[in-house]
Amino acid sequence: MTVFKRAAADGHCRAGAGPRNLLLGLAALLLSGCAPDHVVRSASEVHAGSAASSGSAAPAANAARAGKAAVTEPATDPGNSLRQAFAPYFLLGTALSAQQIAGQERGTLPLVQQHFNSLTAENVMKWQLLQPVEGQFDFSAADALLALAEQQDSVLIGHTLLWHEQTPAWVFQGPDGGPASRELLLARLTSHIQTVMGRYRGKIKGWDVVNEALNEDGSLRDTPWRRILGDDFYLTAFALAQQADPAAELYYNDFNLFKPAKRQGAVRLVRQLQAAGIKVAGIGMQGHYGLDFPALQEVEDSIRAFAATGAQVMITELDITVLPNPEQAQIGADVSQKLALQARLNPYTTGLPANVSQALTERYHALFRLFLQYEASISRVTLWGVHDGQSWRNGFPMQGRTDYALLFDRDLTPKPAVTALLQLAAESGGERRE
Ligand code: XIL
Repeated sequence: MTVFKRAAADGHCRAGAGPRNLLLGLAALLLSGCAPDHVVRSASEVHAGSAASSGSAAPAANAARAGKAAVTEPATDPGNSLRQAFAPYFLLGTALSAQQIAGQERGTLPLVQQHFNSLTAENVMKWQLLQPVEGQFDFSAADALLALAEQQDSVLIGHTLLWHEQTPAWVFQGPDGGPASRELLLARLTSHIQTVMGRYRGKIKGWDVVNEALNEDGSLRDTPWRRILGDDFYLTAFALAQQADPAAELYYNDFNLFKPAKRQGAVRLVRQLQAAGIKVAGIGMQGHYGLDFPALQEVEDSIRAFAATGAQVMITELDITVLPNPEQAQIGADVSQKLALQARLNPYTTGLPANVSQALTERYHALFRLFLQYEASISRVTLWGVHDGQSWRNGFPMQGRTDYALLFDRDLTPKPAVTALLQLAAESGGERRE
């Protein structure tokens, strides 16, 4: 039996194969009226992809799902495009730097087109870049990214409207240099959201409306937004966003959402938004992970908790650091952390040892296997960058390290993880199409 999920992106009904999702998927299918003539197929047909040509593939797929080595041939040709391989399940995205958007990096854009069908601006849609001076908007790079997304037949994701980082100091200042009044900050937020979302109305699929509003214990973070606008600042932002582009999807995005307390905080926040009549389309789990954290179980528990709110889950900023975590550092992605460079915490300046490279491949594989298991609840997985040379991980939480967190090498060579993910997708048996 196969299940079909109605893809928000394109309105198609798509085949999915997560066993845990079969009943839910079938119920959704019946409600949505998708492809009833394809509903009932045997498990072997589905896992084999093309039953006629590859009858022995079902055990391979099942073994792969069970975490065992597959002994038979893969179900289908794994192909050479991550975006196509994962199209039956979720969008596969990447984040582009200003240089990449401007086409100043040789070879990157064709690679992006080959592998990714969702684009996010790594920086150029943040407040600091869009409105560095009050009332003076600079849309040049954001417009270029939109043109690129259209050219590459990819969706565009907006990141981000309200954040306490990469927001110019003037936003929070009054005319006398002291803190802005509530009225003034509200007027600025309103103008920013209306101008930015208005410009891209109908062109951007969804926005990270609020980024990183929570502390690690799930309480509200102390930021100028909260201090000046009050505890309901995020309600205000979402209400303004919903008004500015009623058709855009609205997301809450944060890091370390695998932590139980922070997970609960995010669920509370989303429930409050829903109670206020806001449609929260997605919860973005920034996946700034490492080789040994978080536990897959914690990620799984959060996916389930977020899906239970009715929102889609998105893995929004996936990268996997291979470097040791400094003792003074909190794991996560608080960009305000700035530690001094220590050579002993920068062990791979001349290359990655084979065993660490292997661990990275296995980690990507394990995470994506989990994402596939929950594909009915996950609408997008976005890598936070294309290649290791670009990765912000080289500079966080200390400048000057050499990290290997992404799927492509500094010279754009696909890593073994790419092959592993293509294989994994092929073994999962969904129809490869976009
Ligand atoms: C990072 C960018 O990758 C860097 O280039 C920039 O200097 C700082 O911000 N959480 C987020 C992202 O939501 O916007 C951050 O991106 C990483 C953490």
